[in-house]
Amino acid sequence: MQIQQVGNGKLLLGDCLEGMQTLSNDEIILAFTSPPYHNAINYEDHVKKLNGELGYWQRKEISYAEYKAFLMERFKELYRIVQPGGHNIVNIAPVLWQGKRIALPFHFVGWMEELGWVFKEDIIWEKAVARDRRSGVLFQHPYPGYYYPSLVSEYVLVFQKPGLNPRTNNIYHFRSQAEKVANQLDLTDYQAKSKNIWRIRPLSPQENIHPCPFPLELATRIIEFYSYKGDTVIDIFCGSGQTNLAAEMLGRKHIGIDTEEKYIKYTAERLIKQIKEQDHSTISAVS
Ligand SMILES: C[S@@+](CC[C@H](N)C(=O)[O-])C[C@H]1O[C@@H](n2cnc3c(N)ncnc32)[C@H](O)[C@@H]1O
Repeated sequence: MQIQQVGNGKLLLGDCLEGMQTLSNDEIILAFTSPPYHNAINYEDHVKKLNGELGYWQRKEISYAEYKAFLMERFKELYRIVQPGGHNIVNIAPVLWQGKRIALPFHFVGWMEELGWVFKEDIIWEKAVARDRRSGVLFQHPYPGYYYPSLVSEYVLVFQKPGLNPRTNNIYHFRSQAEKVANQLDLTDYQAKSKNIWRIRPLSPQENIHPCPFPLELATRIIEFYSYKGDTVIDIFCGSGQTNLAAEMLGRKHIGIDTEEKYIKYTAERLIKQIKEQDHSTISAVS
């Protein structure tokens, strides 16, 4: 396991199960991640394609039972390192596999409940632009039985590790007034944020080397709503480091873990660039 410190963050290269095993109990206030969606993307091959070593990538064969076991083992370890009352927030969506749509987010809620995580919220990330053309079928066959809506949404599922007792379940309630003031939220776009459908533009492939990054704005909202400055946020499948970048910009400590060296390097480069920009703007503001 290679570990590097960048800004307020720590980046770990390797399996997140091993990475989390290096962390102590209750170290984390907030976890936000998007795990592999079953075998939808072969990340190893994607990196080889980026490096020009492969022309195209193929899905790996992994059964749904193996996939469930993979996630369960890792979200169980996550449960150990999150503080009682802390949150585990997961971006996930149904997947297409062997011609069928698999109800992954709905199964995932049950899996997390088996581990002791308490389901709190289901937020829909509305992407506004569809990458598929499923609904076109209806134009060719404008009859009942041909409705396949284009897919423009993913889920953001919020889970909590129960507090030590019901009275202390809301860990944020006990922050000092000064801390609350320093973390006050900007509610100018309250209407957009107050409902559980968040319309946020997805990234285009030119904006990030990763095949499926979530938008910085998604990570920003989650971090602002569920942590305070100085708290530690972790992304156990960090990819291009969108969670880490948002956490750095928002003054949180952060940890990112990924198995692909290319993505960890990319995350580190983006963090270094961000830190330089932040330092520059602080120096300009002082001078
Ligand atoms: C859905 S992507 C995350 C994308 C990320 N949210 C972003 O915005 O770039 C899932 C990531 O999990 C990584 N991954 C797969 N297996 C892993 C494991 N066992 N431990 C850590 N990372 C893993 C993949 O390399 C991939 O980058």
